[in-house]
Amino acid sequence: MEHKKSVISGEVVANREVTKNHFLMSLTVPDNFQVALPGQFIMVRMKDMGSPFLARPFSIYSTYSFENNTILEILYRVVGKGTLKFSHLKRDDKLDILGPLGNGFDVPPGCKKIALVAGGIGVAPLSFLAEYYRKRSTDSVEDRKVICYIGARTSEWLVGIEKLEEVCSRVIISTDDGSEGHHGYVTDLFIKDINSYRRDGSMVYSCGPYAMMKRMAGILEDCPIPCQVSIEERMACGVGACLGCAVRVKSQEGHSRYMRVCTDGPVFNIEEIIWD
Ligand SMILES: Cc1cc2nc3c(=O)[nH]c(=O)nc-3n(C[C@H](O)[C@H](O)[C@H](O)COP(=O)(O)OP(=O)(O)OC[C@H]3O[C@@H](n4cnc5c(N)ncnc54)[C@H](O)[C@@H]3O)c2cc1C
Ligand code: FES
Repeated sequence: MEHKKSVISGEVVANREVTKNHFLMSLTVPDNFQVALPGQFIMVRMKDMGSPFLARPFSIYSTYSFENNTILEILYRVVGKGTLKFSHLKRDDKLDILGPLGNGFDVPPGCKKIALVAGGIGVAPLSFLAEYYRKRSTDSVEDRKVICYIGARTSEWLVGIEKLEEVCSRVIISTDDGSEGHHGYVTDLFIKDINSYRRDGSMVYSCGPYAMMKRMAGILEDCPIPCQVSIEERMACGVGACLGCAVRVKSQEGHSRYMRVCTDGPVFNIEEIIWD
């Protein structure tokens, strides 16, 4: 569905730290955001035009209605000067927002079993995917299983678990340092269960650090269950104008070509990407 892509003003309703250096921001947005799809993102920019000048991309974590307003949530980690500035925003502060942008995850009608493989803050679009289909699906929980495998460096970096437990059939945790759940990588957990997924009727969705998604691509080469990934490339414009977000993909002739993450993605079939 084509959405109007003009800059709108969003007002901060709440912006709280949910775990160390990770924040959940709720914003009022126009009603057209209620049709945003899981996997789509917004570009967010401070109103005052001070530094940082460029907008920053964030996956949509949730949208809902509250007291006649449409609320959009983003879940973000403070990594640099932009996200640090966002973390200081208070209720009633205003932001420039562009969106919803990009494509969304595709869930085929016959899909009965879904694996979400999330690394760190990559949980944001996957949690929205699980919530979206839990709200809209006519299938019972038994008919469509959604298993989330979520990994982080340490327990302090695990975010969004409570909501995942509400919207998924099962949530399985790993941490690189063993401070919570399985001691090791989240991809190890997925490999343990891989034989319970089928080529027909199952889907895998993944978002997280590049190395994790590259590993997923390797795992699924030997066991081809359809998988879509959301690529979190650096972005400048978010609307296809600057080519700053190009990723190398396979072309039909066996060569490679570039696609723009902001307009051709951010969701791609995992086998399309050339994981250098
Ligand atoms: C489609 C999309 C969806 C995203 N969704 C989310 C989200 O839901 N939550 C969230 O916390 N972040 C998300 N990101 C990443 C987020 O946009 C960056 O973390 C943010 O732009 C960093 O801004 P900054 O000014 O704080 O950091 P900068 O000062 O610009 O950079 C600080 C550090 O972060 C690294 N960095 C910057 N951008 C990215 C990136 N895109 N991916 C990985 N490392 C980066 C830089 O290399 C540098 O090391 C998303 C990115 C994309 C493209
Ligand atoms: S961010 Fe400018 S083309 Fe994608």
